[in-house]
Amino acid sequence: MPTDAIEKTALRFESLGVSSAADADTLFETLSAAARTEAAQIRVPESLEAFRVKWLGRRDGICSRVTENWLKPATGDAKKLIGAGLNRLRAQLEALIEAAKSSVADVEFGQAIDLSLPGIERPVGTSHLIRQTYEELERIFMAIGFSVVEGPEMETPYYNFEALNIPEHHPARDSMDTFYIEGSGGHLLRTHTSPMQIRTMEKQQPPVRIIVPGKVYRRDNPDATHGFIFHQLEGLAVDYDITFCEFRGVVDYFVRALLGPKVKTRLRPSYFPFTEPSAEVDVSCHICGGSGCRTCKFSGWIELFGSGMVNPAVYGFVGYDPERLSGFAFGMGVDRLAMLRYGITDLQAFFQNDMRFLRQFP
Ligand code: DAH
Repeated sequence: MPTDAIEKTALRFESLGVSSAADADTLFETLSAAARTEAAQIRVPESLEAFRVKWLGRRDGICSRVTENWLKPATGDAKKLIGAGLNRLRAQLEALIEAAKSSVADVEFGQAIDLSLPGIERPVGTSHLIRQTYEELERIFMAIGFSVVEGPEMETPYYNFEALNIPEHHPARDSMDTFYIEGSGGHLLRTHTSPMQIRTMEKQQPPVRIIVPGKVYRRDNPDATHGFIFHQLEGLAVDYDITFCEFRGVVDYFVRALLGPKVKTRLRPSYFPFTEPSAEVDVSCHICGGSGCRTCKFSGWIELFGSGMVNPAVYGFVGYDPERLSGFAFGMGVDRLAMLRYGITDLQAFFQNDMRFLRQFP
């Protein structure tokens, strides 16, 4: 509604006086409709300000005029009605101004940037292949009731060796030379994730079903298959009724879930101080299917990880009853698994942060 009509409304109102609720309501509704129409057309800050002055301006704004011309002269019920109507109108105007502010801001933003220009490309990273491999291994074991636990990379010789049945002068320590931390009272960087077997059993009563992802350290010179830091996944299951059959079943399940249903497994006798009997899990070569190739060194088999039934001597270190409990454990090199899976020939590629390598595993 144009302004002159509003002026006329004011005149009409003034000359008629307010005698009923319907009169006041109709007149304020006319004003409010006019305000809404005007507010909807606001695009720039200048017209927003003009709108504010026209309706709420102290000196000559419409609300001020209504106050002067309608409210002040009115009496009794009429005064009440006009007062209420005026309050409603003011509230509506405030709300219209707030809403118009944000549309003005949007319009200004739209003018400040050129929407036809190409955008800025933000490079999106992915998780490292080792991380991806861990996630897959965790998924496979969690599906059969294992939970994931983590432990310290800095260990004591007790957890890293002794409690795993590797006493001080045991030859098994030779293959696990590591870094000792000066001034730490003999702490070392763990050579495997197996210490978490002990830490878990110390804290928790059977049944235990855990896997332990983590970094491990050895004093090895870096080459295509060795590094002073690498990644393992440990596993431990202990309960009152675990047999060698269950161990074998879990191994088969895992290998099939990881490498496909066609892959065969075999257990080859081995030795670890903390398992008895111990076994290396071999799998039929997924490259040549067992006929012999470079990956399997022409044997048809690939060594996947070490494992075995938990040595009863270990239970003695954690206060478990070796007469009633049994279980199995395993420990696998995650870097090695990823290398086999993707045909990666150099372990160092995992640690060099070369984007050309990393980008191949989105
Ligand atoms: N801790 C062994 C290593 O680093 C791997 C291992 C072998 C872990 C057999 C086990 C196991 O739990 O049962 O060489």
